[in-house]
Amino acid sequence: MKSENFLKENNARSLWHPMAHPADSIANPPEIIMKAEGVKITDINGHQTVDAVGGLWNVNLGYSCQPVKQAISEQLNKLPYYSIFRGTTNDVIIELSEMLRDFFEPDGLSRAFYTSGGSDSIEIALRLARQYHKIRGEAGRVKYLSLKKGYHGTHTGGASVNGNANFRTQYEPLMPGCYHIPAPYTYRNPFNETDPQKLAQACLSAMEDEIKFQGAETIAAMVMEPILGAGGVIPPHETFMPGVRALCDKYGILLIADEVITAFGRTGSWSGSRHWGVKPDFMCTAKAITNGYFPFGAVLISDQIAEIFEGDKTGKAAIGSGYTYSGHPVGAAAAIACLKETVSLKVNDNASARGEQLFAGINALKTKHGIIGNIRGGHGLMCALELVSDKTSKTPIDKATINNIQKTAYESGAMVRVSGNNIILSPPLIINEDETDIIISALDTGFGSI
Ligand SMILES: Cc1ncc(COP(=O)(O)O)c(C=O)c1O
Repeated sequence: MKSENFLKENNARSLWHPMAHPADSIANPPEIIMKAEGVKITDINGHQTVDAVGGLWNVNLGYSCQPVKQAISEQLNKLPYYSIFRGTTNDVIIELSEMLRDFFEPDGLSRAFYTSGGSDSIEIALRLARQYHKIRGEAGRVKYLSLKKGYHGTHTGGASVNGNANFRTQYEPLMPGCYHIPAPYTYRNPFNETDPQKLAQACLSAMEDEIKFQGAETIAAMVMEPILGAGGVIPPHETFMPGVRALCDKYGILLIADEVITAFGRTGSWSGSRHWGVKPDFMCTAKAITNGYFPFGAVLISDQIAEIFEGDKTGKAAIGSGYTYSGHPVGAAAAIACLKETVSLKVNDNASARGEQLFAGINALKTKHGIIGNIRGGHGLMCALELVSDKTSKTPIDKATINNIQKTAYESGAMVRVSGNNIILSPPLIINEDETDIIISALDTGFGSI
C-alpha cells in the first residue's frame, strides 16, 4: 500500500471527481476514506464517523454485510463473467429474476432488464417506453414528462428529463421532446402554495395542461421519483403520485418510477411506489440492489408492458439495448444475497423507526438554529435541511457556510452530504438509535459553529 504522504500529496491530482469542480478538488482535497465497518467510515487520519450519506444512498445494509461479500467472492471463483446477450445466460441471473418477481409482485412488476447502475436503468426505461408505443402502432409517442427538481442520472437521456439546471446547462443541447412539470415542493413553488395537498393538485393541473398542450398522442412516458431525493428530499402529498398515475392512465402515457434510491426499503416501504399505493409501468432500480458492493441495476417491467413485447409478431419488440455488464453474474450473486438479507432483517421497519427519530431530531434543530429554513423527511431514512441566510426572503445560504457546517459535523462524528443549499441525510437502513443520535448531535455542533 502507498504511504500516507503519497496519498495526501497526490489526492485529486490525477483524477477528476464526479459532481465537483476540478480546481476545487485540488484546493480542498476530498477526505480519503480508508475503511468502513457497520455504519461507520474511517479516513486516512484514523478519524471515524457515522456515514449519514449511506455511501451514496446505496449501502443500506452497512459496510459489514458478510453474506453479500461472501456471495461476491464465491461467484468470482465460480463464474466471474459471462454475457447474457442473446443466446446465453447464467444460473444466478435466473435465480435473481425469480426472486425479484416475487419481491415486486405487489407492485405489479414481473420482468427484469439488467443494467450497470441507476443512469443506465433510466436510459433503458426511456427507450423501452418509446418502443412499447411503436410496437402498439403509436409511433408518434416519443416525448417525456418529468418533474423539476427530479434527478435521473447523468446520461444524456437522463439529464434531459433531469429537473435541475446544475446537471443540464453545461451539457446542452440535450434531447428534444422533454418537458418539465413543477415539483410538489411546498417551500418554493410557482404557485406560492404551502399546503401540500393543494400544491399536489396544482402540480397535477399543470401536468394535465402540459399534456393537452403537447398532445397526449405525442407523449411516451412520465418519469418521476416517488420521493425526490438528490433534488433535496421532497416528499409529495400522498395524493400526488396516485394523481400522476391517474393522468397517465387517462392519456395513455406510461409511468416510469425512478426508484434508484427508494426501492428496497428506504422510505419505510419496500418501494416508493408501494409507499403511495401506485403501480408503475417501469421501475428503475440500482444502488441498494447490491448494497453498493457491485455496480448493478435492474429495470422492473409490468405484466401489461411484458404482454405487448412478448406478444409481438412483427419483430419490433426485439430489444436493441443492453450493456456488456447486463446480468453480470457477480452482480446477480451480490443481489441475491442482498435481497435475502434485506428481507430477513426487515430493514424497511428500521428505516421507519430511525427515520422518525432522525426527522424529530432535525425538527428540534430547526427550532434552535435560525439558518435552517425548511426541513423535509418523515418517510423513512431520507431527510433534508434547507439552509437560508434569511428566512423571509429564503435566500440560499452561501457555499462557504454550508461547507463549514459539513466540515464541523464531520469532525463531530457524522459525514453528511451537501447538495446546493441542502444538507441531505440518507444513512444505512441498519443504523441504530445511538448512531442516529450521533448524526443529530454532530449537525447541532455544525450549526453551532457558525
Ligand atoms: C433517483 C436517481 N436516479 C438515477 C440516479 C443515477 O444513478 P447512478 O448514479 O447509479 O447512475 C440516481 C443517483 O443518485 C438517483 O438518485
